[in-house]
Amino acid sequence: MEINKIQHSKLDKVDPNNSAFGVNISDHMLICVFKDGKWGEPVIMPYGGMNYSPALMAIHYGQAIFEGMKAYKDSNDNVFLFRPEKNFERFNKSAERLAMPKITKEIFLDGLLSLIDLDRNWVPTKEGNSLYIRPTMFASEEMFSARISNEYTFAIMTSPANSYYDKPLKIKIEDYYTRAVDGGVGFTKCAGNYGASFYPTKLANEAGYDQVIWTDSKEHLYFEESGTMNVMVRIGDVLYTPPTSNTILSGITRDSLVTIAKHNKIEVKEERISVDDIFNAYKSGNLKEIFGCGTAVVINRYSHVAYRDFIMELPELDEKNSFAIFLKKQLVDLQTNKSEDPFGWRY
Ligand code: COI
Repeated sequence: MEINKIQHSKLDKVDPNNSAFGVNISDHMLICVFKDGKWGEPVIMPYGGMNYSPALMAIHYGQAIFEGMKAYKDSNDNVFLFRPEKNFERFNKSAERLAMPKITKEIFLDGLLSLIDLDRNWVPTKEGNSLYIRPTMFASEEMFSARISNEYTFAIMTSPANSYYDKPLKIKIEDYYTRAVDGGVGFTKCAGNYGASFYPTKLANEAGYDQVIWTDSKEHLYFEESGTMNVMVRIGDVLYTPPTSNTILSGITRDSLVTIAKHNKIEVKEERISVDDIFNAYKSGNLKEIFGCGTAVVINRYSHVAYRDFIMELPELDEKNSFAIFLKKQLVDLQTNKSEDPFGWRY
């Protein structure tokens, strides 16, 4: 792999231990180009702009996918990834659905390791902070025909991120707009899924909510995801999360939390959750917690959940009583080498 190092690191201007999510991009990036039916040699180079015209096919027809993952440093300066093969597998599932070429394990994983090793000083040491990693692939042929692109660019960039303060949010159950439909692209991390979610989210923000819970496209009665995350609901002492499907992203944080919960003897049911279930649980006083979970934020709890004009206020549980706080600590301790790793997830 060719490595062109930066002349002068930006670390004299950026403090990785105090860096808002996604703002400061580390010194180097990995680039690999697919052309003439095959992937070329990956190159690590200084992070910066690339020379494309507005005719780039990704911009017009949306063949663009990404992943989100993180690197962590322990108190001995060892750097860890978390289940990176899962991101590699999901990236290729997204690629297949968008008719894009699959990336090889060598380019994705070996490239990632070389890049993180080179920029290891960008991995924050402060508790709870991490280096967010953004692998991406986009159609990079420049022309107007509406067809599958013949050229693609794969890139990996990284960015130090402060730990996210989990302020309980006000959330609206979306009963009109839809994130994903059967047979669509909801299970992928394609750019359009995010772009299309911004308008309904903006409307929810204008109505005083922080985020939306997405429901099924047919009846708008079953929970699917929340914001850019998977969703979990605690009713009594049972943790429910909708099963992954072709409309629900198979979240790695989701899967890890389910496994950790079961390991700690919490009953987990991967079942559809309806708005009626939520109402009934609320009326009987059993609706304890609702939270989103994803790589970027880990867990985000909700304080108020609204369906049309009806607002449900959730109890404020402290760390002794909240599943969300307990599970988040278990996961982050495992990721940052503060606890045993009974599942073999640290890398
Ligand atoms: C995540 O929660 O990991 C996400 O996918 C959010 C990301 C789009 C910033």
